[in-house]
Amino acid sequence: EKERTLAMIKPDGVFGNYTDKIKEVILESGFSIITEMVVQLDEGNATVFYVEHSHRDFFPGLVKYMTSGPVYIMVLEKVNAISDWRALIGPTDARKARISHPSSIRAMCGLDSEMNCVHGSDSPQSAAREISFFFGEMPGGIVRHEE
Ligand code: CMP
Repeated sequence: EKERTLAMIKPDGVFGNYTDKIKEVILESGFSIITEMVVQLDEGNATVFYVEHSHRDFFPGLVKYMTSGPVYIMVLEKVNAISDWRALIGPTDARKARISHPSSIRAMCGLDSEMNCVHGSDSPQSAAREISFFFGEMPGGIVRHEE
C-alpha cells in the first residue's frame, strides 16, 4: 500500500545548496515527488508546526532556525514512505548520523542536533497533519508545481 509523507529541506539545507542532491537521493530511493514548494515560515506558523516541542528548552532556538530562511517542502509517495524517509534521513543529531548512518542525508548535510538539514513525518498521524498544514491550512508557497 502506497503512503505519503512530508519531507522538508530546512534553511541550512537550502542555503547550503543541497536541494538538488537531496532530490536526486529521493528519486534514486524510489520515492515519487507528488508536489513541492518553497515556503518562508514565520514565527507563528513555525510554532504551530512544531507545537509538540513547544515545552522543550530548545524550542526558541528551533523557531529561530526554522524562520532563518526558506524551506523546501515536498510530499513524497511510495510503499512505506513514512518509515523509509525517516530511515533515509538518519538520526536527529547529524553528528551521530555521521558515525552510525554515514550514508544518511543528515550525515551528508546536517551540522548537529538542531541544524539537521531535513525533516520527515514520524507517523501516519504526523504525515496527515503536516501535509494538510502546508497544503491545506497554510497555502502560499513561493514556487509550487504539481504533477
Ligand atoms: P525534526 O526532526 O524536524 O524535529 C524537531 C526538531 O527539533 C529536530 O528536527 C531538530 O531540528 C530540533 N531538535 C531536536 N532535538 C534537539 C536538541 N536536543 N537541541 C536542539 N534542537 C533539537
